[in-house]
Amino acid sequence: MKHISVIGCGTMGNGIAHVFALSGYSVQLIDINEQALQKAIQKIGSNLDRQVSKQIITEEQKASTLANINPTTDLAQGVSKADLVIEAATENVGIKLQLFKDIDAHAPAHCILSSNTSSISITKIAAVTNRPEQVIGMHFMNPVPVMKLVEVINGFKTSTATTNTIMELSKAIGKVPTLVNDYPGFVANRILMPMINEAIITLNEGVAGVHEIDTVMKLGMAHPMGPLQLADFIGLDVCLAIMNVLHDGLGNPKYAPSPLLINMVTSGDLGVKSGRGFYDYSNGGKELVVAPKFNS
Ligand code: CAA
Repeated sequence: MKHISVIGCGTMGNGIAHVFALSGYSVQLIDINEQALQKAIQKIGSNLDRQVSKQIITEEQKASTLANINPTTDLAQGVSKADLVIEAATENVGIKLQLFKDIDAHAPAHCILSSNTSSISITKIAAVTNRPEQVIGMHFMNPVPVMKLVEVINGFKTSTATTNTIMELSKAIGKVPTLVNDYPGFVANRILMPMINEAIITLNEGVAGVHEIDTVMKLGMAHPMGPLQLADFIGLDVCLAIMNVLHDGLGNPKYAPSPLLINMVTSGDLGVKSGRGFYDYSNGGKELVVAPKFNS
């Protein structure tokens, strides 16, 4: 494996490009939006700066990492030499299925196709390609340069050879791959999202405030972020979409999303990315301030 193509240059896509390029792979970073690509390269540069300032990497490694990344808006050309494609586009089934048809049409026959989806079925994605045995899930965690886990998801037809290659590759970029099967939410989100949803239900029932719920989980359970802060960090729209996948896919009312979560997403309070969720980020997020709505 030498050539990796990453599709989508948002938070996850640019983090994935960062870790592969830092490990010496040649990365095509593909997005339909030219401006977003420029912003992503800047973001990778500033995340590499954090690693330089912590003496995790050298200035030379920063320079070679950036040199290993080629941004492009041309999907067909961007995947034409790929040994592995990692799709990290918007979490929308229709968009992903169309993308996989296009990638399948333009990537070389030997190329493995993977998705960073947080909850969409790998088997469903594989079924729109002509190579379902070479389709697999690679679910990275945010922030990608920091988090060690890659949740590797076997689709129904993923071959053992594909799984072994992806497990080894994940280790080669310094991650810890963990193999799971393709069921709604896989493992990470099947466990994480109901916890976040329960925290939102707990808030909505008036059991405790935002700060109190997060403090209990941070100091009581040694979580680096409380569940409500983590929901803001992930994006409340993403949390809601994953709860809907669990609810629809597993058919159990215990996965019903909290009405408060639905209301917040409907009103545009999506967390860090929209400037407000359970906390208010208008101060740039330097200090955690509970959003006025929950501050009584
Ligand atoms: N790139 C490179 N380095 C980064 C970084 C980035 N994007 N973000 C943070 N860092 C580094 C910092 O430089 C710092 O390095 P040192 O430890 O060497 O000092 C370290 O990470 C910690 O960062 P900070 O000091 O800024 O802040 P922190 O101590 O509060 O940690 C955090 C930040 C790592 C995000 C931590 O709060 C955390 O682990 N939070 C939980 C993250 C989590 O649960 N992620 C999974 C979300 S779920 C998901 O992604 C999948 C899904 O499907 C929804």
